[in-house]
Amino acid sequence: MTNKPRISNRVSRIPKSAIHEMTRLSKEVEDVAFLSWAKPTSDTPDHIKEGAIAAMREGLVGGYTENAGLSELREEIVKKLKRDNRVDAEVSQIMVTVGAIEGLAAAVMALVDPGDEVIMPSPTYSTHVRQVIIASGKPVFVPTIEEEGFILDIQRIKDVITPKTKAIVFCTPNNPTGTVLAERQLRQLAEVALENNLMLITDEAYEYFTYDGYEHFSVASIPEMRRNVISCYTFTKTYAMTGWRVGYLHADEEVIPQINKAHIPFAICAPVVSQYAALAALKSPQDCVQQFRSHYLSARNVMCERLDRLDSVFAYDKPHGSYLMFPKILLDEGKDSTAFCKKLLKKGGVSTTPGIAFGPTGQGHLRISFCVSEEEISKAFDKMESYFG
Ligand SMILES: Cc1ncc(COP(=O)(O)O)c(C=O)c1O
Repeated sequence: MTNKPRISNRVSRIPKSAIHEMTRLSKEVEDVAFLSWAKPTSDTPDHIKEGAIAAMREGLVGGYTENAGLSELREEIVKKLKRDNRVDAEVSQIMVTVGAIEGLAAAVMALVDPGDEVIMPSPTYSTHVRQVIIASGKPVFVPTIEEEGFILDIQRIKDVITPKTKAIVFCTPNNPTGTVLAERQLRQLAEVALENNLMLITDEAYEYFTYDGYEHFSVASIPEMRRNVISCYTFTKTYAMTGWRVGYLHADEEVIPQINKAHIPFAICAPVVSQYAALAALKSPQDCVQQFRSHYLSARNVMCERLDRLDSVFAYDKPHGSYLMFPKILLDEGKDSTAFCKKLLKKGGVSTTPGIAFGPTGQGHLRISFCVSEEEISKAFDKMESYFG
């Protein structure tokens, strides 16, 4: 008899990642047009790489840093939070993490006990759901209002709160919909959190990528929220540094040591070479961020123009943030988004992500990314036009 690996229920319950599955299947398709990843195709700017190289040459990167990250980096983060997020932070309230994702995971591990409920608007970033499951918590999905651009349904959020509810996790600007939540809605959500003593865990990975006059708002800028919010940010999206794996979170100084206890067993500290790269990113002029933003904006416009030509196949609202959009599939076969996306890949040569990966109300949609070159978008839509005829 051969022994079977005895995998935990916690992990074996987690479904396979649709994004990784589409990536795997894409490798079997010749000349594929690839719109599946939320990863910028631009390279990290040179001045950031130079910061890392200089630190390596000076022999600074071979050891661990403090678990919470280099103090010089945390000081720069404090300045950035004041300047760009209107958040009055202190160094003791910052923890440098392995991308936003490890910060989110550590935050969830620090808050959630088995059986605790965590509210998340749906559709939402699939990894948030997996993190709650890994912590043996229960994700509670609350549909967003699609007709109004996937905004929060505050009343429905209130309605699902129970004594077991611990937190609300959400991202703005949103993956997969590109929705930028309005300050007014976020203030209402903050009130709900305060009234019920819930923690808001925010994922602000796309904070700099907003368009059409929409502005990102950080709930941590509301002074009364001090003890009720853990805000997660990243360098990886802002500066095209996804491979460097460096981000940070901000929380009350009483909460930080608890999150640190979850961070250490998984990471000890964020990669040190990447912390120096992040330091160079923050200490330099921010022009590169504006350049990325303009590129995504014009790529979004190209994508929307091309989608307009397929208006019998897709319906969509222009996304005002992130570099992702989430059209609704109008064809009958779109009811099963996984089958639809697999067929579109195999027969049409275009890799997208099925909407069901982003929660129950994601069904009947697909996610497409515009963090690619305009040529890639044209190639994908040329293929789709001939596929859908
Ligand atoms: C909403 C959101 N949060 C976090 C991440 C991961 O960010 P990081 O690379 O900083 O871990 C992603 C990546 O796609 C994302 O879309």
